[in-house]
Amino acid sequence: MKRIKTAVFPVAGLGTRFLPATKTVPKEMLPVVDRPLIQYAVDEAIDAGCDTLVFVTNRYKHSVADYFDKAYELEEKLERAGKHAQLEVVKNVLPNGVRAVFVTQTEALGLGHAVLCAKPVVGDRPFAVMLPDDLIWNGKKAGALRQMIELAGERGGSVVAVEDVPQEKTASYGIVEAPEFDGRAGRVRSIVEKPSPAEAPSTLAVVGRYVLQPRIFELLEQTGAGSGGEIQLTDAIATLLGEDQVHAYRFHGTRFDCGSHLGLIEATIRFALDHEQLSAGAARAMRLALDELGVVEHG
Ligand code: G1P
Repeated sequence: MKRIKTAVFPVAGLGTRFLPATKTVPKEMLPVVDRPLIQYAVDEAIDAGCDTLVFVTNRYKHSVADYFDKAYELEEKLERAGKHAQLEVVKNVLPNGVRAVFVTQTEALGLGHAVLCAKPVVGDRPFAVMLPDDLIWNGKKAGALRQMIELAGERGGSVVAVEDVPQEKTASYGIVEAPEFDGRAGRVRSIVEKPSPAEAPSTLAVVGRYVLQPRIFELLEQTGAGSGGEIQLTDAIATLLGEDQVHAYRFHGTRFDCGSHLGLIEATIRFALDHEQLSAGAARAMRLALDELGVVEHG
Protein backbone atom coordinates (compact mmCIF):
# COMPACT_ATOMS: atom_id res chain seq x y z
CA MET A 1 0.00 0.00 0.00
CA LYS A 2 1.13 3.57 -0.72
CA ARG A 3 2.45 5.36 2.34
CA ILE A 4 0.00 7.58 4.15
CA LYS A 5 1.38 11.10 4.32
CA THR A 6 -1.74 13.23 4.41
CA ALA A 7 -4.14 13.76 7.28
CA VAL A 8 -7.39 15.68 6.92
CA PHE A 9 -8.81 17.59 9.90
CA PRO A 10 -12.42 18.68 9.47
CA VAL A 11 -12.60 21.72 11.76
CA ALA A 12 -15.49 23.70 10.32
CA GLY A 13 -18.08 22.77 12.97
CA LEU A 14 -19.81 25.47 15.02
CA GLY A 15 -19.02 24.01 18.43
CA THR A 16 -22.36 25.12 19.86
CA ARG A 17 -22.00 22.86 22.90
CA PHE A 18 -19.23 25.05 24.19
CA LEU A 19 -20.98 28.39 23.83
CA PRO A 20 -20.30 31.06 24.93
CA ALA A 21 -16.55 30.20 24.74
CA THR A 22 -16.93 29.19 21.09
CA LYS A 23 -18.42 32.58 20.16
CA THR A 24 -14.85 33.63 19.44
CA VAL A 25 -12.67 30.58 20.13
CA PRO A 26 -13.13 27.61 17.78
CA LYS A 27 -13.69 24.42 19.79
CA GLU A 28 -10.51 22.92 18.30
CA MET A 29 -8.59 25.72 20.03
CA LEU A 30 -9.94 24.93 23.52
CA PRO A 31 -6.97 23.93 25.66
CA VAL A 32 -6.32 20.74 27.54
CA VAL A 33 -3.70 21.90 30.08
CA ASP A 34 -1.44 23.95 27.77
CA ARG A 35 -2.19 22.78 24.24
CA PRO A 36 -5.26 23.30 22.09
CA LEU A 37 -7.20 20.18 21.12
CA ILE A 38 -6.05 20.47 17.52
CA GLN A 39 -2.41 20.18 18.61
CA TYR A 40 -3.00 16.74 20.14
CA ALA A 41 -4.49 15.48 16.87
CA VAL A 42 -1.70 17.08 14.83
CA ASP A 43 0.96 15.47 17.04
CA GLU A 44 -0.74 12.10 16.58
CA ALA A 45 -0.71 12.56 12.79
CA ILE A 46 2.98 13.48 12.81
CA ASP A 47 3.75 10.51 15.07
CA ALA A 48 2.05 8.37 12.40
CA GLY A 49 4.34 9.73 9.68
CA CYS A 50 2.10 12.36 8.07
CA ASP A 51 3.78 15.44 6.61
CA THR A 52 0.81 17.14 4.95
CA LEU A 53 -1.99 18.33 7.20
CA VAL A 54 -5.17 19.53 5.54
CA PHE A 55 -7.48 21.66 7.67
CA VAL A 56 -11.00 22.01 6.38
CA THR A 57 -12.14 25.25 7.94
CA ASN A 58 -14.75 27.98 7.48
CA ARG A 59 -14.59 31.75 7.53
CA TYR A 60 -14.88 31.94 11.32
CA LYS A 61 -11.83 29.82 11.95
CA HIS A 62 -8.96 32.15 11.16
CA SER A 63 -7.39 31.47 14.53
CA VAL A 64 -6.68 27.85 13.48
CA ALA A 65 -4.63 29.14 10.52
CA ASP A 66 -3.00 31.82 12.70
CA TYR A 67 -2.04 29.17 15.22
CA PHE A 68 -0.13 27.14 12.64
CA ASP A 69 1.48 30.18 11.05
CA LYS A 70 5.05 31.06 11.95
CA ALA A 71 5.08 33.61 14.80
CA TYR A 72 8.17 35.63 13.83
CA GLU A 73 7.82 38.36 16.44
CA LEU A 74 7.09 35.98 19.26
CA GLU A 75 9.98 33.69 18.31
CA GLU A 76 12.35 36.64 18.17
CA LYS A 77 11.23 37.90 21.58
CA LEU A 78 11.65 34.47 23.17
CA GLU A 79 15.06 34.13 21.53
CA ARG A 80 16.21 37.49 22.83
CA ALA A 81 14.88 36.72 26.31
CA GLY A 82 16.78 33.42 26.30
CA LYS A 83 13.53 31.47 26.79
CA HIS A 84 14.73 28.48 24.80
CA ALA A 85 12.32 25.90 26.14
CA GLN A 86 9.29 28.04 25.22
CA LEU A 87 10.85 28.81 21.85
CA GLU A 88 11.08 25.10 21.09
CA VAL A 89 7.46 24.60 22.12
CA VAL A 90 6.31 27.38 19.78
CA LYS A 91 8.44 26.13 16.89
CA ASN A 92 7.21 22.56 17.33
CA VAL A 93 3.56 23.49 16.82
CA LEU A 94 4.36 22.56 13.22
CA PRO A 95 7.79 20.89 13.00
CA ASN A 96 10.09 21.46 10.02
CA GLY A 97 9.15 19.31 7.06
CA VAL A 98 5.44 19.30 7.92
CA ARG A 99 3.15 21.58 5.94
CA ALA A 100 -0.33 22.83 6.69
CA VAL A 101 -2.86 23.38 3.93
CA PHE A 102 -6.15 25.17 4.49
CA VAL A 103 -9.27 24.42 2.53
CA THR A 104 -12.55 26.24 3.00
CA GLN A 105 -15.86 24.46 3.42
CA THR A 106 -18.24 27.21 2.37
CA GLU A 107 -21.41 25.45 3.51
CA ALA A 108 -21.89 23.24 6.55
CA LEU A 109 -23.16 20.19 4.66
CA GLY A 110 -21.76 17.51 6.95
CA LEU A 111 -18.62 15.52 7.73
CA GLY A 112 -18.67 13.69 4.38
CA HIS A 113 -18.83 16.99 2.54
CA ALA A 114 -15.97 18.41 4.65
CA VAL A 115 -13.78 15.42 3.74
CA LEU A 116 -14.70 15.84 0.07
CA CYS A 117 -13.47 19.46 0.22
CA ALA A 118 -9.95 18.05 0.81
CA LYS A 119 -9.98 16.03 -2.43
CA PRO A 120 -7.91 18.49 -4.53
CA VAL A 121 -5.13 18.39 -1.94
CA VAL A 122 -5.21 14.67 -1.14
CA GLY A 123 -5.35 13.49 -4.75
CA ASP A 124 -5.12 9.80 -5.59
CA ARG A 125 -3.50 8.43 -2.44
CA PRO A 126 -4.78 6.81 0.73
CA PHE A 127 -5.11 9.32 3.57
CA ALA A 128 -6.20 9.76 7.16
CA VAL A 129 -9.14 11.66 8.62
CA MET A 130 -8.88 12.85 12.20
CA LEU A 131 -11.62 14.47 14.26
CA PRO A 132 -9.82 16.54 16.90
CA ASP A 133 -12.81 16.31 19.30
CA ASP A 134 -11.76 12.73 19.90
CA LEU A 135 -8.57 13.06 21.88
CA ILE A 136 -6.79 9.72 22.12
CA TRP A 137 -4.12 9.25 24.74
CA ASN A 138 -1.73 6.33 24.68
CA GLY A 139 1.03 7.63 26.96
CA LYS A 140 4.38 7.46 25.26
CA LYS A 141 3.37 4.50 23.10
CA ALA A 142 2.22 4.54 19.45
CA GLY A 143 -0.74 6.82 18.80
CA ALA A 144 -4.03 5.44 17.49
CA LEU A 145 -3.42 6.62 13.93
CA ARG A 146 0.00 4.99 13.76
CA GLN A 147 -1.58 1.70 14.91
CA MET A 148 -4.27 2.02 12.23
CA ILE A 149 -1.79 2.76 9.46
CA GLU A 150 0.15 -0.35 10.46
CA LEU A 151 -3.01 -2.43 10.22
CA ALA A 152 -3.86 -0.93 6.83
CA GLY A 153 -0.34 -1.81 5.69
CA GLU A 154 -0.82 -5.43 6.77
CA ARG A 155 -4.37 -6.00 5.54
CA GLY A 156 -4.96 -3.41 2.80
CA GLY A 157 -8.21 -1.50 2.33
CA SER A 158 -9.47 1.09 4.79
CA VAL A 159 -9.58 1.18 8.59
CA VAL A 160 -11.98 2.86 11.01
CA ALA A 161 -11.22 3.20 14.73
CA VAL A 162 -13.87 1.76 17.03
CA GLU A 163 -14.63 1.37 20.70
CA ASP A 164 -17.48 -0.09 22.70
CA VAL A 165 -20.18 2.30 23.83
CA PRO A 166 -23.19 1.68 26.07
CA GLN A 167 -26.23 0.54 24.06
CA GLU A 168 -28.15 3.72 24.91
CA LYS A 169 -25.44 5.83 23.22
CA THR A 170 -25.53 4.31 19.73
CA ALA A 171 -27.50 7.26 18.31
CA SER A 172 -24.44 9.49 18.81
CA TYR A 173 -22.10 7.42 16.61
CA GLY A 174 -21.48 5.52 13.45
CA ILE A 175 -21.97 1.87 14.45
CA VAL A 176 -20.31 -1.08 12.72
CA GLU A 177 -21.22 -4.71 12.36
CA ALA A 178 -18.03 -6.79 12.30
CA PRO A 179 -18.95 -10.46 12.83
CA GLU A 180 -15.36 -11.73 12.76
CA PHE A 181 -14.08 -9.15 15.20
CA ASP A 182 -11.28 -10.86 17.12
CA GLY A 183 -11.21 -8.42 20.00
CA ARG A 184 -8.83 -6.04 18.29
CA ALA A 185 -9.75 -5.97 14.59
CA GLY A 186 -12.27 -7.36 12.13
CA ARG A 187 -13.70 -6.75 8.70
CA VAL A 188 -16.74 -4.49 8.68
CA ARG A 189 -19.86 -6.05 7.18
CA SER A 190 -22.12 -3.04 7.66
CA ILE A 191 -21.93 0.47 9.04
CA VAL A 192 -24.76 2.82 9.91
CA GLU A 193 -24.79 6.43 11.07
CA LYS A 194 -26.39 7.15 14.45
CA PRO A 195 -28.85 4.24 14.71
CA SER A 196 -31.29 4.15 17.61
CA PRO A 197 -30.33 1.60 20.29
CA ALA A 198 -33.09 -0.70 19.01
CA GLU A 199 -31.74 -0.63 15.44
CA ALA A 200 -28.01 -0.67 16.13
CA PRO A 201 -26.25 -3.75 14.70
CA SER A 202 -23.79 -3.73 17.64
CA THR A 203 -22.29 -1.40 20.22
CA LEU A 204 -18.98 -0.96 18.38
CA ALA A 205 -18.86 2.76 17.68
CA VAL A 206 -16.67 4.61 15.20
CA VAL A 207 -14.47 7.21 16.84
CA GLY A 208 -12.81 10.02 14.94
CA ARG A 209 -9.94 8.26 13.16
CA TYR A 210 -10.13 6.85 9.64
CA VAL A 211 -7.61 5.53 7.12
CA LEU A 212 -9.29 5.75 3.74
CA GLN A 213 -8.64 4.86 0.13
CA PRO A 214 -9.07 7.76 -2.34
CA ARG A 215 -12.02 5.96 -3.93
CA ILE A 216 -14.04 7.39 -1.02
CA PHE A 217 -14.04 10.79 -2.79
CA GLU A 218 -15.98 9.47 -5.80
CA LEU A 219 -18.40 7.77 -3.46
CA LEU A 220 -18.82 10.97 -1.44
CA GLU A 221 -19.64 12.82 -4.65
CA GLN A 222 -22.53 10.40 -5.15
CA THR A 223 -23.69 10.45 -1.53
CA GLY A 224 -26.86 12.40 -0.77
CA ALA A 225 -27.95 13.83 2.54
CA GLY A 226 -28.32 11.20 5.26
CA SER A 227 -28.66 11.29 9.03
CA GLY A 228 -29.43 14.83 10.25
CA GLY A 229 -29.86 16.00 6.64
CA GLU A 230 -26.07 15.99 6.21
CA ILE A 231 -23.69 14.27 3.78
CA GLN A 232 -22.26 11.55 5.98
CA LEU A 233 -18.82 9.96 5.71
CA THR A 234 -20.40 6.84 7.20
CA ASP A 235 -22.77 6.50 4.22
CA ALA A 236 -19.91 6.66 1.70
CA ILE A 237 -18.01 4.05 3.75
CA ALA A 238 -21.15 1.87 3.66
CA THR A 239 -20.98 1.98 -0.17
CA LEU A 240 -17.23 1.33 -0.13
CA LEU A 241 -17.91 -1.93 1.76
CA GLY A 242 -19.40 -3.38 -1.42
CA GLU A 243 -16.12 -2.97 -3.33
CA ASP A 244 -13.23 -3.11 -0.89
CA GLN A 245 -12.21 -4.22 2.59
CA VAL A 246 -12.87 -1.92 5.53
CA HIS A 247 -11.51 -2.98 8.90
CA ALA A 248 -12.74 -1.94 12.31
CA TYR A 249 -9.86 -1.51 14.74
CA ARG A 250 -10.02 -1.21 18.52
CA PHE A 251 -6.95 0.91 19.26
CA HIS A 252 -4.68 0.81 22.29
CA GLY A 253 -5.27 4.02 24.23
CA THR A 254 -7.95 6.02 25.99
CA ARG A 255 -10.31 8.23 24.06
CA PHE A 256 -11.78 11.39 25.52
CA ASP A 257 -14.86 12.82 23.85
CA CYS A 258 -13.78 16.45 23.99
CA GLY A 259 -16.86 17.44 22.03
CA SER A 260 -18.66 17.14 25.38
CA HIS A 261 -18.09 19.08 28.61
CA LEU A 262 -17.39 16.00 30.67
CA GLY A 263 -14.97 14.59 28.09
CA LEU A 264 -12.97 17.80 28.07
CA ILE A 265 -12.90 17.80 31.87
CA GLU A 266 -11.78 14.14 31.96
CA ALA A 267 -9.00 14.85 29.46
CA THR A 268 -7.85 17.85 31.48
CA ILE A 269 -7.71 15.78 34.67
CA ARG A 270 -5.82 12.96 32.97
CA PHE A 271 -3.26 15.19 31.27
CA ALA A 272 -2.75 17.28 34.41
CA LEU A 273 -2.17 14.16 36.53
CA ASP A 274 0.23 12.83 33.89
CA HIS A 275 2.15 16.11 33.63
CA GLU A 276 5.69 16.07 35.04
CA GLN A 277 5.48 19.43 36.78
CA LEU A 278 1.76 19.67 37.46
CA SER A 279 0.88 16.18 38.64
CA ALA A 280 1.33 16.61 42.42
CA GLY A 281 -0.35 20.03 42.49
CA ALA A 282 -3.25 18.84 40.36
CA ALA A 283 -3.82 15.80 42.61
CA ARG A 284 -3.79 18.04 45.70
CA ALA A 285 -6.25 20.48 44.15
CA MET A 286 -8.59 17.66 43.19
CA ARG A 287 -8.56 16.12 46.67
CA LEU A 288 -9.14 19.50 48.25
CA ALA A 289 -12.04 20.28 45.95
CA LEU A 290 -13.65 16.89 46.61
CA ASP A 291 -13.33 17.37 50.38
CA GLU A 292 -14.45 20.99 50.50
CA LEU A 293 -17.42 20.47 48.25
CA GLY A 294 -18.27 17.14 49.86
CA VAL A 295 -18.62 15.55 46.43
CA VAL A 296 -19.76 11.94 46.55
CA GLU A 297 -20.16 9.82 43.51
CA HIS A 298 -23.63 8.55 42.71
CA GLY A 299 -23.80 5.60 40.34
C1 G1P B 1 -18.96 11.82 13.58
C2 G1P B 1 -19.29 10.65 12.65
C3 G1P B 1 -19.70 9.43 13.46
C4 G1P B 1 -18.60 9.09 14.45
C5 G1P B 1 -18.26 10.31 15.33
C6 G1P B 1 -17.05 10.03 16.19
O1 G1P B 1 -20.14 12.21 14.21
O2 G1P B 1 -20.32 11.04 11.76
O3 G1P B 1 -19.92 8.34 12.61
O4 G1P B 1 -19.00 8.00 15.26
O5 G1P B 1 -17.98 11.46 14.52
O6 G1P B 1 -16.76 11.09 17.05
P1 G1P B 1 -20.28 13.62 15.00
O7 G1P B 1 -19.71 13.38 16.37
O8 G1P B 1 -19.50 14.63 14.23
O9 G1P B 1 -21.74 13.92 15.04
